[in-house]
Amino acid sequence: MKDIKIESTLTVYDDYNELPAAIAALMDKASKARLKAYAPYSKFLVGAAILLDNGEIICGNNQENASYPSGLCAERTAIYYAGAEYPEAKIVTMALIAGSQRHPTASPIPPCGACRQAISEYEVKQNSPIEIYFMGETGKIVKSFSLANLLPLGFDRNFL
Ligand code: THU
Repeated sequence: MKDIKIESTLTVYDDYNELPAAIAALMDKASKARLKAYAPYSKFLVGAAILLDNGEIICGNNQENASYPSGLCAERTAIYYAGAEYPEAKIVTMALIAGSQRHPTASPIPPCGACRQAISEYEVKQNSPIEIYFMGETGKIVKSFSLANLLPLGFDRNFL
């Protein structure tokens, strides 16, 4: 018997002004998309912007439904659109921003487990890392250099 230690390394930016200009611009797009979220039930608005290696930027936001489980997170709305529109392109970076309409959200909001699994599919498919930046409405921004770094022991096509 032995223990295995799995480590993740994250980069933390103190605030939006510390971001590289291109990432700040991507985060601005995510922020604009967030304001168009359809979240009448949770009042929790999430925006995503995806930079592709062909230079295109795809945005998405969460889309809720009166039948709650039928709704979809911002990350998957955006990544499935990117996959549908540009199936050959690689995803370079995802910028995510989230916050409640009920109270200020000043800490970084990571993508949920289901979205990590969905993003993982594309990281494995394209065989190159997807950088992910996530934040609340304000405050620190966390960067992960890949999705796998956020999802240890991921399940992927190699097990099938
Ligand atoms: N949500 C996202 O869009 N992304 C996440 O990673 C976490 C949750 C959405 C789903 C739902 O519309 C609302 O936030 C509250 O869970």
